[in-house]
Amino acid sequence: MCDEIIPHSRPLISDSDIEGVVSVMKSGQIAQGPRVAEFEEKLAGFIGKKKAVAVSSGSAALHLALLVLGVKEEDEVIIPSFVCSAVLNAVNFCGATPVIVDIEPETFNISVNAVQRAKTGKTKAVIVPHMFGCPADMERLSELEIPVIEDCAQAVGADFKGQKAGSFGLLSVFSFYATKVLAAAEGGMVLCDSEDLVSRIKDLREYDNRDDYILRYNYKMTDIQASLGISQLSSIETFIDKRREIATRYFQEFKNCNFSLPVWKEGREHIYYRFVIKTEDNSSGYIKRLQKNKVMCQHPVYKPLHVYLNLPGFPHTSEAWQKTISIPLYPSLKEKEIEKIIAVVKEIF
Ligand SMILES: Cc1ncc(COP(=O)(O)O)c(C=O)c1O
Repeated sequence: MCDEIIPHSRPLISDSDIEGVVSVMKSGQIAQGPRVAEFEEKLAGFIGKKKAVAVSSGSAALHLALLVLGVKEEDEVIIPSFVCSAVLNAVNFCGATPVIVDIEPETFNISVNAVQRAKTGKTKAVIVPHMFGCPADMERLSELEIPVIEDCAQAVGADFKGQKAGSFGLLSVFSFYATKVLAAAEGGMVLCDSEDLVSRIKDLREYDNRDDYILRYNYKMTDIQASLGISQLSSIETFIDKRREIATRYFQEFKNCNFSLPVWKEGREHIYYRFVIKTEDNSSGYIKRLQKNKVMCQHPVYKPLHVYLNLPGFPHTSEAWQKTISIPLYPSLKEKEIEKIIAVVKEIF
């Protein structure tokens, strides 16, 4: 069995990924250029949206999506608590009020009932992250008549009732950080069907050579990153198949373990960006034991937003934070590593 430490995430970088990057480096065009345009077109086509704008990160994508919806001070944006602080930052970048809500306990996604209760006359948007690769209930969310920004940072290729996550919302955002499903080191994208919104996002993405002055950003992606993104996207089906294959083994091997497995929901095709289990008591001690055995596991969300902000309530998020563990699951796992993860998890549970 494998003796090395098994990391919690590791990108799968192929020779053709590397060749693509090298050819961009040799071309002399390393900043935003033709590879960025190609990546935009390919991801939009894969997800099923008309247009895309590549940016420097998922955070930048969220920020620009909110700005073009006109989100500003006095407005409210509904977001879940059980998500990374990038989502809260984006609302705060716009000076708007984040309205933080609880999650569905089974899928860890934003609670549709809670969104419904939180909706006011000031609600400008709801950000819906598809957590850990499991799509949120887009049918019910679409009925709430609130502009939806789907956050697909963790769910490229997941689908809800046969339709790709990222194709439902008015806008959808993606992240290509090194640990993500498509790893481009850093990067993000906004997808949208509206020409008008897309041209405004493009306008805000860069500041130089303009006749007028408004606050604009340097949120551009480079052709180096885009080349990696394009090459990774060409393997997306293989990546997802591999993730599902490992998940199937974990479901089988862990069925008698002393924790709850991810819940399968009808019509929601999970890509297992994270394999999140729920323990009966606090998970921190288990995470330490797993790490001591060289299987690097994590709390799937470092700290929920309501904890950062000291807000009371949020029973489902609090329970999820205290009792969940993300076990390594990614396409670059080798057979020996998978065997070790299974053996260590079974031993501890
Ligand atoms: C759900 C979600 N949204 C947004 C982000 C932010 O993406 P980035 O790190 O590319 O800014 C992340 C990153 O971890 C994320 O998981």
